[in-house]
Amino acid sequence: MAEENWVSVAKRSAINPGDVLGVRLGEREIALYNLDGEIYATDNLCTHAFALLSQGWLDGETIECPLHGGRFEVKTGKGLGPPINDDLKTYPVRVIGDDVQIRFE
Ligand code: FES
Repeated sequence: MAEENWVSVAKRSAINPGDVLGVRLGEREIALYNLDGEIYATDNLCTHAFALLSQGWLDGETIECPLHGGRFEVKTGKGLGPPINDDLKTYPVRVIGDDVQIRFE
């Protein structure tokens, strides 16, 4: 995979375990999660309507949307039932020093 596809999006030290952080990259809204020290990334926009998941609630490995309570698995982006019809896009993550980088296809 080409090195240039990795983009620094946040500082690792800015995301504590159990936290979710929303970042904007141009047009993209990305949510970063710290699950027991591992960082994961998904789209931040809920697939149901217009809400930022980073403003919702992280419960274990599940993020709950603040608008209608839709839930997704953070690691896979899988939607966990109504009102969610579409899964969430996830992104590969790596941590280099204190930089969290994600890879766009
Ligand atoms: S906008 Fe997220 S559940 Fe409706």
